[in-house]
Amino acid sequence: MKYINNIFTIENCSINKVVEKFETPIFCYSQKKIKENISNFKKNFKSFSPIICFSTKSNSNLEILKEIKRNGLGADVVSKGELMIALKAGISSKKIVFSGVGKTRSELIYAIEKNILLINCESKSEILEIERIAKLKKKKVDIGIRLNPNTDAKTLKQISTGKKENKFGINEKTFIEVSRYIKESKFLNLKCLSVHIGSQILDHKPYQKMINVLDKLIKKMDFSFEYIDLGGGMGIDYKKDNKKFDFKKYNQIIKKFLVNHKSKIIFEPGRSIIGNTAILVSKILYIKENSKKDFIILDAAMNDFMRPALYGAKHKIIPLKKINKITNKTYDFVGPICETTDKFLSTTKFQKLNEKDYIIICDVGAYGTSLSSNYNIRPKPAEILIKGSRINVIKKRQKLKDLI
Ligand code: LLP
Repeated sequence: MKYINNIFTIENCSINKVVEKFETPIFCYSQKKIKENISNFKKNFKSFSPIICFSTKSNSNLEILKEIKRNGLGADVVSKGELMIALKAGISSKKIVFSGVGKTRSELIYAIEKNILLINCESKSEILEIERIAKLKKKKVDIGIRLNPNTDAKTLKQISTGKKENKFGINEKTFIEVSRYIKESKFLNLKCLSVHIGSQILDHKPYQKMINVLDKLIKKMDFSFEYIDLGGGMGIDYKKDNKKFDFKKYNQIIKKFLVNHKSKIIFEPGRSIIGNTAILVSKILYIKENSKKDFIILDAAMNDFMRPALYGAKHKIIPLKKINKITNKTYDFVGPICETTDKFLSTTKFQKLNEKDYIIICDVGAYGTSLSSNYNIRPKPAEILIKGSRINVIKKRQKLKDLI
């Protein structure tokens, strides 16, 4: 993804061509970037070849999931809907793990019927519910237990999941207690210890801490898990300041851990696979000039892309067409929705913008479309996958008549 002759281009497709053909806002993905990310992820951990289960919640577009499947990944799901779409994408049930604190009975029955790799349980009550279903179905079900390692992921508090005050997982004491119970059960197989401490983690140290907790606990239990599921969370460089997650260090930490524990590692990455593979292209509807700053009113809004409104996340905004005229004005990029948080970014030293120009919001591949909504009865944008110079529509723009 780069500028060619001052026009932003994905693979061999100029985004000018996209806006000539399609209405904005529109999500544009690069197939090459998806392949590259998956191949790099695999390379980083090649010495112990983990099972990689793509976190479906980060992007659940069926065509994207098919692409992910073609590149050999499994899926991490958190609802029956996600499980159904992962299966529809052709992902083998033996490469699917199911997490979540509130799986309903019907979701559990479905997962058990589909013989998925693991159900990662998050409470004693859930374990008992699975056991009851397994007994009825006369099956022995493979499960994992999600540990709450009480580890600070040093990320945004809204996306932190591994501290004791968070609702996720089971604390050490209960973990040992329920493990004993499962080992005695005729209907449950304890196969996995799982953890996930948070998302957009850029520092490897929280992972080191988390691994230390696992190491101690497993030694104390004197039990060998077939799988250790380390979750996802590896962050990406949204700020473009080269503060990248150090995969090499994480790989070393895990390799050291595996010297004493002969388990298969599972990862559940979402953002690190899909985050930087997509942009959101939007048109400037109006520019409202103000004394201190100009409001750049876009046709994209918080319902299309929620991260800035929901977490105060900052995504780079760049022009579709570069010109050499920089303004000293502050620009506030906002959407048309009647909420003050419907704002993407405030920036200075941007190039001079005009109404009807197009801008690009970067790195929207993860938790972009999957978090989008129809707030204000706004149809969700189209999604396209660019392959070389070809454009494939992988989701049509919603029609108002379907919403009303
Ligand atoms: N595994 C589990 C159990 C998870 O809960 C998550 C994300 C992942 C894996 C994938 O994490 P990743 O590799 O993508 O960081 N909407 C927020 C992020 C919420 C993450 C929820 N769990 C955002 O836009 O930043």
